[in-house]
Amino acid sequence: MPNELNRRQFLDSAAVGTMAAAAALGARADAPFDRRVVVGVMGLMRGKAVAKVFAGQPNVEVRYACDVDRTRAADAAAELEKMTGTAPQAIGDFRTILDDPEVDALVCAAPNHWHAPATIFACQAGKHVYVEKPCCHNPQEGEWMVEAARKHGRVVQVGTQRRSGAGFREAIGLLHAGEIGRVYSARATYAAARGSIGHGTQGEPPAELDYALWQGPAPVRPYVDNHLHYNWHWFWHYGNGELGNNGVHTLDLCRWGLGVDYPVRVTSSGGRYVFDDDQETPDTHTAAFEFEEGKSIVWQGHSCNPYGQDFVNFYGESGTLTLTSGGSYTLYDLKNKVVKQVEGTLGEPEHVTNFLAAVRSETPDALNCGVAEAYPSTLLCHLGNIAHRTGRSLRCDAANGHILDDADAMQYWAREYNPDWKPVV
Ligand SMILES: NC(=O)c1ccc[n+]([C@@H]2O[C@H](COP(=O)([O-])OP(=O)(O)OC[C@H]3O[C@@H](n4cnc5c(N)ncnc54)[C@H](O)[C@@H]3O)[C@@H](O)[C@H]2O)c1
Repeated sequence: MPNELNRRQFLDSAAVGTMAAAAALGARADAPFDRRVVVGVMGLMRGKAVAKVFAGQPNVEVRYACDVDRTRAADAAAELEKMTGTAPQAIGDFRTILDDPEVDALVCAAPNHWHAPATIFACQAGKHVYVEKPCCHNPQEGEWMVEAARKHGRVVQVGTQRRSGAGFREAIGLLHAGEIGRVYSARATYAAARGSIGHGTQGEPPAELDYALWQGPAPVRPYVDNHLHYNWHWFWHYGNGELGNNGVHTLDLCRWGLGVDYPVRVTSSGGRYVFDDDQETPDTHTAAFEFEEGKSIVWQGHSCNPYGQDFVNFYGESGTLTLTSGGSYTLYDLKNKVVKQVEGTLGEPEHVTNFLAAVRSETPDALNCGVAEAYPSTLLCHLGNIAHRTGRSLRCDAANGHILDDADAMQYWAREYNPDWKPVV
């Protein structure tokens, strides 16, 4: 249970929040856009952009701009005030958001190690959640998130926004309609020109940062100056490497297009090949997934060489469909002749609009990427990373993705917690 709040207060405020939300929804169920939705945003780099999308929607109030880095909270609040004419409260502790009975939803764009705990605490407090990708830091947390959303009847959308992009939806619809015959294979890639993160130095965190709350559920480690902001992605304690960072977007599309859930075999190759520095996660990484339906996915990431900006290719018995990162797609026949080419969109505002509609109607099933759908895609990233970390291929249960006959690999299924912040569903 989060420190500072005692359990009774927390449960009381959760009950009030849930009842207030239910009453408001009940009163206005027939006029969905009429209902004001109040949100608080936690983590304000990516979160600042998402906050602006929320603030730009009709009848939405961004009441809190929350960041443990005071300068980021103040900066986001000022930008939102410029945009809307009203300043959100700049705060440092997201429990203020959960405690406010008028808040409908928490938007979580804090680092990955916070995604599941914050989502679970928010569901327990009666809040809906828009949480950034990857939905969880490890597989166990993904299972907990699905359970928490169901148990508390909350709407939990995950920020793989392409699920709501018109071009992506149309392209995947064509695959499902058999436009290129049976689709049996997908290839996803990521390429960038990231530099070295160097070697960090331990020391005092900057005065504007609440480092204890930044770490939260992750067991306490000393502050190191090249871990944050952003570079926590490259340390297993907080992040999930490029596979969990950018890979999750494309793996989610692959899984959706192929119509598969959990793999039966996962392999990995790669390493930190380009720079000799503190980064733990690979900069060059290939992960492959086989499914019992006779289908497969390969993801290849080059974090330090931007050549080749392919995004996702689907291979079918009578043709190919390629998707760009922006949602445009092209269909080819088996002679590689272009059959159809369509410009698309990324889906960012649409994903938020979809979330707000589901919140207003309290209908988790209306989500384009609810947590139950996002988790199996995120699990592919985790399994690819576990295969990398153990150095061997994994066999998995097709029913739930659990790793079979490999107790060492299963140790990566869950993590240790700072006891003050361990989520319990
Ligand atoms: N959907 C997308 O396209 C997309 C794009 C970029 C980032 N993301 C996701 O958004 C998340 C954040 O990424 P980023 O690039 O902004 O990282 P970042 O490290 O630059 O920013 C994270 C922010 O969260 C703050 N934070 C940490 N703990 C907090 C807490 N307990 N309460 C409030 N704030 C806290 C940090 O101080 C920091 O300002 C990541 O999970 C990333 O995967 C998604």
